[in-house]
Amino acid sequence: MNVLSLFDGISCGRVALERAGIPVGKYYAYEIEPNAIKVSKKNYPDIIHCGDVMEADFTQYEGIDLLIGGSPCTNWSCSKNHKAKEKKEQFINEGMGWELFKQYKRAVDEAKPRYFLYENNFKISKNIIEAITDELGVEPIMIDSQLVSAQRRKRLYWTNIPNVTQPLDKGLLLKDVFIYDEALIRVDHRIPPSAVKTKNYIQYDLTGRGDKSEPYRLHYLNGKAPTLPKSRTESKCNILVDEDDWSKYKIISPVEAERLQTLPDNYTDCVPKTRRFEAIGNGWTVDVIAHILSFIPTVVTDEEIIKAYFYDCESMPCSMCPLLNYKGKCCNQYVLDLIIRLKDEIERLKANDDFEKVTTLMHHISILNGIIVKEKAEKARLERKYNRYYHLVEDFYRFLFHIGKMKEFTLFHEEKEIEREAD
Ligand SMILES: C[S@@+](CC[C@H](N)C(=O)[O-])C[C@H]1O[C@@H](n2cnc3c(N)ncnc32)[C@H](O)[C@@H]1O
Repeated sequence: MNVLSLFDGISCGRVALERAGIPVGKYYAYEIEPNAIKVSKKNYPDIIHCGDVMEADFTQYEGIDLLIGGSPCTNWSCSKNHKAKEKKEQFINEGMGWELFKQYKRAVDEAKPRYFLYENNFKISKNIIEAITDELGVEPIMIDSQLVSAQRRKRLYWTNIPNVTQPLDKGLLLKDVFIYDEALIRVDHRIPPSAVKTKNYIQYDLTGRGDKSEPYRLHYLNGKAPTLPKSRTESKCNILVDEDDWSKYKIISPVEAERLQTLPDNYTDCVPKTRRFEAIGNGWTVDVIAHILSFIPTVVTDEEIIKAYFYDCESMPCSMCPLLNYKGKCCNQYVLDLIIRLKDEIERLKANDDFEKVTTLMHHISILNGIIVKEKAEKARLERKYNRYYHLVEDFYRFLFHIGKMKEFTLFHEEKEIEREAD
């Protein structure tokens, strides 16, 4: 799939495509911040960097598969702006925030992408949300990143990708991303006297003015982190390391921040620490984007499945995983294709009140989702442990048999060929 990414930042969209198992052909990125571009280039040298959106001619991408982007919300979000002019920009559809959004809208009109995804802050004013909705012609979906990560982060997503649902709650907490580092431990005995326990954090006041802002909070290991801001400082998520000692806390490290955005560890390590925090806070939660993109429909015909079956079973040497490549797509994509098709079938059955079959198909989908999760976990070890992977392949083949897509299956295992009839 070819992708046009506006306001690309550190290319979280590209990580998300990879994580959703969607193969990328050309990825065109519009971004102007040098540190962000450096991070993007380190991780994806094949990305085509195109510079400033203001100068772009998007007609050259006409018919592109996917357009993604979230324009800067700095002049739009309600929390930060104090200057009168900026304040005004929160409420009217003009000024820099709107001008940058209009470039995205121009890309929609000029490139006419098959699918688009636009993201912005949940806190932008209601009339700007309505104006964006009018321009893009689809209602936004609010997704809170805390469903897939240990960070609370509410964002709005406008997309024409059909049937996007909320992700399942993975139940991740700060302790799941925490890395103990003595050098980042701070002790301040002035904290306990003014500290109070709230639901999400310990709140204290060292200013005597009742300043309740983020630097005066300690977050629980058994709780969630606050929204990471576009900020170069490390005081934006202080972590209470010992529930019984409120004078001791740990400041956040860049790798923890990356984990809160579900980025790979050290994804941003090619720029200075302050720039890492800024770029990460500016970025997307990868797993939210991967979740949304996983709903992009791809049509799989019966014929393709049969072909994959013959190819997998008759010509694969034992040293290769049969499902790793499916018409240039990886196994995840293959399974996702099937899920999408089953979902379509469910809609059709629901319309005919055939609820018994709906229940069966929903059960099939849950099996497939399980296979995807297991496949992701196994893939990292795949190079060394083919045998373990075969169990997943077997699960998958058994499933195909179950839904009548495969009459029998053959697996090559070590030296000997095992022929089975699924029961
Ligand atoms: C909210 S961030 C988007 C981050 C991105 N989604 C990511 O995953 O990292 C907005 C980005 O737009 C970039 N930007 C601002 N003005 C721009 C312009 N005129 N052309 C291209 N990019 C621009 C900023 O540098 C910033 O990285």
